[in-house]
Amino acid sequence: MEALKNILGLQLPTDPRWVNLAEMELQEILTDHAYCEQKAATSCITLIQRYPTREVLVKELSPIVTEEWGHFRLVLQEIYKRGLTLGNQRKDVYVNKLKDFEQKGGGEEGRLTDQLLSFALIEARSCERFKRLSEGLSDEYMRQFYRRFMESEAGHYALFIELAETYAPKEAVRARWQQWLDYEAGIMESLEIRGDRIH
Ligand SMILES: [Fe+2]
Ligand SMILES: [Fe+2]
Repeated sequence: MEALKNILGLQLPTDPRWVNLAEMELQEILTDHAYCEQKAATSCITLIQRYPTREVLVKELSPIVTEEWGHFRLVLQEIYKRGLTLGNQRKDVYVNKLKDFEQKGGGEEGRLTDQLLSFALIEARSCERFKRLSEGLSDEYMRQFYRRFMESEAGHYALFIELAETYAPKEAVRARWQQWLDYEAGIMESLEIRGDRIH
């Protein structure tokens, strides 16, 4: 846990009790996970639509759309295989709070950096939660299932950081990333207190 936390730079680990909760309500966790993958795919499409002339971004994110949609289908398969149903999408407090921190006005460069960094954070947090599930669930099949997602989301996290550094000076991205990490730690703190889960 400590190693991964350091790699991704997250300031606060997920509450360990979350795994037991997740195991108790598999349908809910799979439903939330399914929408999380779906949103990851649509977010990449949105970025491509917003920044069509940023060639590296378009080229790098196009295959990620396919990959995230593939993840959605894998989760859906698990849901149906188990005789469960895909529930409704819940309001995503975590993602909404992250969006609040994004630079709204100013130059395109700053806005692009923030959008890429917020997606990097979402990937990092998903990765951290999948790691926890891959270690904490009692079902070996599900542990394996989440291990694969964990590796994939870690790669996406790295890609979003790389893209940010493609379009803005490295030092500026690093400095802003630190602000994002601090801000996200605050969100996690408030969500843990309220007992919400982020995905
Ligand atoms: Fe994914
Ligand atoms: Fe991802």
